[in-house]
Amino acid sequence: MSKQLQARRLEGIDHNPWVEFTRLSKEYDVVNLGQGFPDFSPPDFAVQAFQQATTGNFMLNQYTSAFGYPPLTKILASFFGKLLGQEMDPLKNVLVTVGAYGALFTAFQALVDEGDEVIIIEPAFNCYEPMTMMAGGRPVFVSLRLVFSKKELELVAALCQQHDVLCFSDEVYQWLVYDGHQHISIASLPGMWERTLTIGSAGKSFSATGWKVGWVMGPDNIMKHLRTVHQNSIFHCPTQAQAAVAQCFEREQQHFGQPSSYFLQLPQAMGLNRDHMIQSLQSVGLKPLIPQGSYFLIADISDFKSSMPDLPGAMDEPYDTRFAKWMIKNKGLSAIPVSTFYSQPHHKDFDHYIRFCFVKDKATLQAMDKRLCSWKGEPQA
Ligand SMILES: Cc1ncc(COP(=O)(O)O)c(C=O)c1O
Repeated sequence: MSKQLQARRLEGIDHNPWVEFTRLSKEYDVVNLGQGFPDFSPPDFAVQAFQQATTGNFMLNQYTSAFGYPPLTKILASFFGKLLGQEMDPLKNVLVTVGAYGALFTAFQALVDEGDEVIIIEPAFNCYEPMTMMAGGRPVFVSLRLVFSKKELELVAALCQQHDVLCFSDEVYQWLVYDGHQHISIASLPGMWERTLTIGSAGKSFSATGWKVGWVMGPDNIMKHLRTVHQNSIFHCPTQAQAAVAQCFEREQQHFGQPSSYFLQLPQAMGLNRDHMIQSLQSVGLKPLIPQGSYFLIADISDFKSSMPDLPGAMDEPYDTRFAKWMIKNKGLSAIPVSTFYSQPHHKDFDHYIRFCFVKDKATLQAMDKRLCSWKGEPQA
């Protein structure tokens, strides 16, 4: 074929760092602490809700409303309306999508135009850059330092208003906060609802990432453009999974703020996992930074960079990438190099961290401990 086969919008976005790490993790016998998913069961109420959705009302086998199964958009509007301080209309302010991924893609397609600048605060989820480029936008990266406070969030909000900028706020880890910290949605800050899309994930909320139910919420004058993309692409999302998520939120609304709430129980349990992992990683000289939220912690590997600078790998490969591959092959543990969450020009500045996922079962953490114990007992590679 003489003509270029692929569309021009795919140029430069074919490489995905995850593919290589997923392949390596399968090839070697590793304890996988790389990709962010729980390897334990969702809570019983969620499993039962899904079972009921597949065996109950037969109409749940059929299409539902294009922009979301009505009981789900209704409960999302009511649940998040209270948190964001907004009266939300389920039909106008909520769109159900195929995971938070789907919400992001729909938002970029609907609102980013040819040549638009998209400011991406990094470290960032890997898809933001390719989604910007597929929409014809131009990514502009701003690197975070190690602290992100409410004051800085307010500064971002003020800048959005001053420069008339839209804000896409990916809040999939909103329940995963530790040590008494509070999640703050930027849409709840004064003047931000009008220009913010708030994105969430049932997969992350209920430890059921395979359900792939997500949502995006915002003002109708913005949401209507997302509905246009949605009705011309996905049209609507699987009904049964939406019905299960609706039931989960109805349950959470009843238990909200009480010890029985999964949104309280999950961070409590994962906080213990985090502390366990911090202790264990330190035993081999990895230096974990204590995260205030999310599924992940990052460990500083600067000491290894000084003591073993010549790990195998391509000349232009950042140190953390070479270290993560070395760890997979020699120590049977997988983590993700943090430079992959930065734009290419900033790789070298952030090549001394690796990321571990601690939203894992006890057995996985025990398996990790065993590997770390052997590592500790071995002479330095
Ligand atoms: C920051 C962030 N946003 C969005 C997603 C995608 O969520 P979902 O599985 O609901 O598509 C992920 C998944 O890892 C994520 O880490």
